Amino acid sequence: MDKMSALILEMIEFDAGEPELIHHFIKVHGFVRLICEMENIPPDVSETIEAAAVVHDIGIKVSMDKYGKSSGTLQEQEGPPYAGEMLKRLGFGEKLIDRVSFLVAHHHTYSNIDGIDYQILVEADFLVNFYENQNDKEVIKNTCGKLFKTASGREICARMFLAGK
Ligand SMILES: [Fe+2]
Repeated sequence: MDKMSALILEMIEFDAGEPELIHHFIKVHGFVRLICEMENIPPDVSETIEAAAVVHDIGIKVSMDKYGKSSGTLQEQEGPPYAGEMLKRLGFGEKLIDRVSFLVAHHHTYSNIDGIDYQILVEADFLVNFYENQNDKEVIKNTCGKLFKTASGREICARMFLAGK
């Protein structure tokens, strides 16, 4: 089995009994893969974004177990050590682990997106969250216009939610 599939299985185990969380990261990972292909992202960078997509919300379960709640800040604070440990155990490299931990710690922060990996993760997460939160078209349109930067992310967003608006 390749490392990414092994990581997905580990996360399914981590979020066992929480199908919503599992469906969420599987979908974010799917959009990440698609956007990476459309944007011709180099393999080492797309591996980093894919791994980040799989573990990005690892802090939700941790925060719920520890504090009985899971705000964005708590997730960002609690998630990285668990993500780092899991990636290390599965044999991912140090550079990838450092960057994924950073992304897990910042993926709810949109003011300082400092790389294409961060950008694509945020776009894929929004593509899934718009649907899961049942956001209305105005919110989707504004968020997409403000935060989406890749042509692929914008196109997927427009086709999926805004076609025929
Ligand atoms: Fe998410």
